[in-house]
Amino acid sequence: MRVTASAPAKVILFGEHFVVYGEPALVMAVERRAYVSTEPRADGKIYIRAENVGASGYYSGEGLRTFEAETGGAEAQRRLEPIKVVIEEARRLSGKNLGLNVTVESAIPVAAGLGSSAAVAVATAASAGRVLDLNPSREEIYRMAYEAEKVIHGTPSGIDPAISTYGGTLMYRRGEGVQPLALKVELPLVIGNTGLSRSTGDLVAGVRRLKEKYPSLVEPILKIGGKITAEAVKALETGNLEALGNLMNINHGLLSAVGVSSLPLERLVYAARMAGALGAKLTGAGGGGCMVALTEAGGLGKVARAIEEAGGEAFTATTAKEGVRIEEER
Ligand code: PMV
Repeated sequence: MRVTASAPAKVILFGEHFVVYGEPALVMAVERRAYVSTEPRADGKIYIRAENVGASGYYSGEGLRTFEAETGGAEAQRRLEPIKVVIEEARRLSGKNLGLNVTVESAIPVAAGLGSSAAVAVATAASAGRVLDLNPSREEIYRMAYEAEKVIHGTPSGIDPAISTYGGTLMYRRGEGVQPLALKVELPLVIGNTGLSRSTGDLVAGVRRLKEKYPSLVEPILKIGGKITAEAVKALETGNLEALGNLMNINHGLLSAVGVSSLPLERLVYAARMAGALGAKLTGAGGGGCMVALTEAGGLGKVARAIEEAGGEAFTATTAKEGVRIEEER
């Protein structure tokens, strides 16, 4: 039996970082998917191949503690660890210590703020869960993937695995879970990638340090971040794109204030605004990675070109209505 599952990327429209501290965030699944295929193998080993992060290797022995890299050298184990955590969790829940071949094929840029690692973890949970006869519910898939996110950075809010699992557009609040939002129209969104990778864990830790040093300044910023999300939900419901754009600009200012923007991101944000975007902000953890711009209907091409001229890679973001799904079983 070989099962392939897929899960979409995401773009955070409002509330990244502030969501770690319990504020609401607004997030949309994007039609770029990670595919994970799983099949049993007879020797009890776990073999993982993930070309998107340039790593492959075998886990074996008691508690899968022995790792042998096939490609990717010394970095391979760290890169494959989140996938292994999902597999371990699926094996624990199923009570079956079955050997597995796991193959990742992903079209989502890595370490760019588009939730690549969460999409891979979610698709892994679905495909391995099926092979191990767990047939996990969405809630169970989400929980397995969330365990893997904790390995990557210590205090994840859970927003990335949530959107990859459920798809569509969601309001997310830590501890409360997801609230699906029904959008009447597709938002004209362009994503711009600076091409610079960065560590979500380091950026989240940086915000924490700033908050500990200046609590009376940073805590109100986090609260205002939450208010922006609440306003954005209203603007979405009434289809007020101009208000949404303004709110994105304010949100970006707050993210800059807590130190997660960078010159390459600012360049793309300003290029988009000057080309007529209604609003533009960094998306995800920041540092490098991606920004997102909201344009008027018909304004996508001009803004995308401006982002490319400023050195970014631009693409239009369409909503992935479906979250995790089984693609093939044979
Ligand atoms: O890893 P990214 O870039 O997709 O960002 C995740 C969003 C953060 O709010 C920065 C972290 C989190 O756990 O919510």
